[in-house]
Amino acid sequence: MYQTLLTELQDGTFLITINRPDKLNALNKDVIADLDKAIDEVYNNAEIKSAIITGAGEKSFVAGADISEFIPLDASGAETLAKVGHNVFNKIEHAPKPIVAAVNGFALGGGCELAMSCHFRLASENAKFGQPEVNLGLIPGYGGTQRLTKLVGKGKAMELMMTADMIGAEEAKSLGLVNHVLPLAELLSKTKEILQKIQTKAPVAVGKVIACVNDAANCDDKGFDKEISRFGECFATEDMREGTGAFLEKRKAAFKGK
Ligand code: COA
Repeated sequence: MYQTLLTELQDGTFLITINRPDKLNALNKDVIADLDKAIDEVYNNAEIKSAIITGAGEKSFVAGADISEFIPLDASGAETLAKVGHNVFNKIEHAPKPIVAAVNGFALGGGCELAMSCHFRLASENAKFGQPEVNLGLIPGYGGTQRLTKLVGKGKAMELMMTADMIGAEEAKSLGLVNHVLPLAELLSKTKEILQKIQTKAPVAVGKVIACVNDAANCDDKGFDKEISRFGECFATEDMREGTGAFLEKRKAAFKGK
């Protein structure tokens, strides 16, 4: 079904592995098209409760957009390429189910941007992050100028994007770019463990947390009002009755996602 991805559904978690290790999993048109389809699957397949995006091999998550595809592009072709990427990455950011990046090596350019479009990130000790586009006479074009600034603040984002410096996993953690740093061999198991915990919570409520936090991160001036509406909407769910009832009856809640 996918040319450039490996996928696997286990215990409700959909593992999406970008599979071009000989090109350090660089994002060419085929990868972007496949990712778009895979994210649609996350939205539409009720058996999928959460997803992980990672890269094949032990060296790279994604080493950027595929630079060889830039050569024939003029300004309007490049804008189209950026728009297609933006659509996919926005779809990841706004997914109603958790999508987490397990960054297993280089996350450069479009790779860092892909990781940042996920709801949060875990990294292996060998991971390296950076936005090196100015080395190529470019700027980030898959949302990096916006998402990096939101995640690490203006001063550090400016420095990283102007110097093209790469930073290691521990520094990325200290900046708030990643939540956990792990030995490579433990990266996927820890990511799955966190998602299994989230999967025990009320799915509709989890989806509303994602939407509200995105509103805050995107400086939506209606963020507070939307929180009030979504809080109200929770009271119309079976899961809210189950969760509050289970607490009062001192038993474990069994959520249905309704
Ligand atoms: N686009 C296309 N191909 C890429 C790529 C990218 N972003 N990143 C790596 N590759 C390819 C290399 O061309 C090479 O292919 P080849 O074996 O056919 O020559 C292969 O992946 C392995 O990369 P290589 O550069 O030999 O590995 P390395 O360990 O010496 O260096 C990096 C690793 C990540 C430092 C280096 O590949 C790099 O700087 N990549 C580009 C990063 C970048 O600028 N990304 C932003 C793009 S907008």
